[in-house]
Amino acid sequence: MVDQLPKPEAPRLITVANQKGGVGKTTSSVNLASGLAMLGSKVLVIDLDPQGNASTALGVEHRAGTTSSYELLIGEASAEEAIQQSTAHENLFCIPATIDLAGAEIELVSLVRREYRLHDALRNSSFLEKNDFDYVLIDCPPSLGLLTINAMTAVDEVLIPIQCEYYALEGVGQLLNNISMIRQHLNPNLHISAILLTMYDARTKLSEQVATEVREHFGDVVLGNIIPRSIKVSEAPGFGQSVLNYDPTSRGAAAYFDAVIEFATRGDYQPVEATGPIGVSPETAKRLAAEAER
Ligand SMILES: Nc1ncnc2c1ncn2[C@@H]1O[C@H](COP(=O)(O)OP(=O)(O)OP(=O)(O)O)[C@@H](O)[C@H]1O
Ligand SMILES: [Mg+2]
Repeated sequence: MVDQLPKPEAPRLITVANQKGGVGKTTSSVNLASGLAMLGSKVLVIDLDPQGNASTALGVEHRAGTTSSYELLIGEASAEEAIQQSTAHENLFCIPATIDLAGAEIELVSLVRREYRLHDALRNSSFLEKNDFDYVLIDCPPSLGLLTINAMTAVDEVLIPIQCEYYALEGVGQLLNNISMIRQHLNPNLHISAILLTMYDARTKLSEQVATEVREHFGDVVLGNIIPRSIKVSEAPGFGQSVLNYDPTSRGAAAYFDAVIEFATRGDYQPVEATGPIGVSPETAKRLAAEAER
């Protein structure tokens, strides 16, 4: 087990997205971020989901009126003003989401550079450099609207959690289309740097089939470490904790630790030549998109 991760040359900014609900976006954002922080990295989680689940799990204030990602997007606050230290770890920070964010999807429409509000707030200031962040993870809502677009223009990397369940790939084609489109028109650096299989149930054939299918479609971009379905993982947020804090010896915690180490040590995933620009071969992207339209 490593106790210190390599420091990335530049801060790695990662959007955790899948418009399918309940696939483990928030759980993965929180646990990967906690693991990175525990292993010595300085980490920021930006909660872009009005549900505010990541904020809850990280133990930061997010009552209505708290300075949050909403003010950041609207331009009423700087990142410096919205950031809070997580109770989980001294290296772990969060820009919380409050219920105010629920209206942002509509409010953003009339603002200038509406697709780049988060990018501008984070990157047009010395905020990241000044605070020496190693990782920024953005937890997205289950939709492909302006909040998710703002997350995708602010980063280079996308991490897609896929639940090992029925209809796991439902909507993934559409997500790939969106990533391609954003790459073409808004952010040429955007690419998928990891796919994380979540809620794997070793007792079922189905989980294994889904994992195999996802690996067939996506190849090496899929992390080797899989997150098992585990009660401890689902209990932890109720205590305002990641599973790594709540029960570090549990299977779920061990899996997230392993995934963290893999994700950090392999660095930003570079697609091999045979795959397309977003880390997936054009044939796969096409096939999944066709499936999405059926
Ligand atoms: N490995 C796991 N084992 C057991 N339960 C899990 C696991 N991962 C996530 N869960 C539970 O599944 C539910 C959905 O997870 P989570 O909230 O992370 O998904 P999400 O994709 O962020 O959902 P949403 O689309 O609503 O934002 C939660 O109740 C969570 O506690
Ligand atoms: Mg969520």
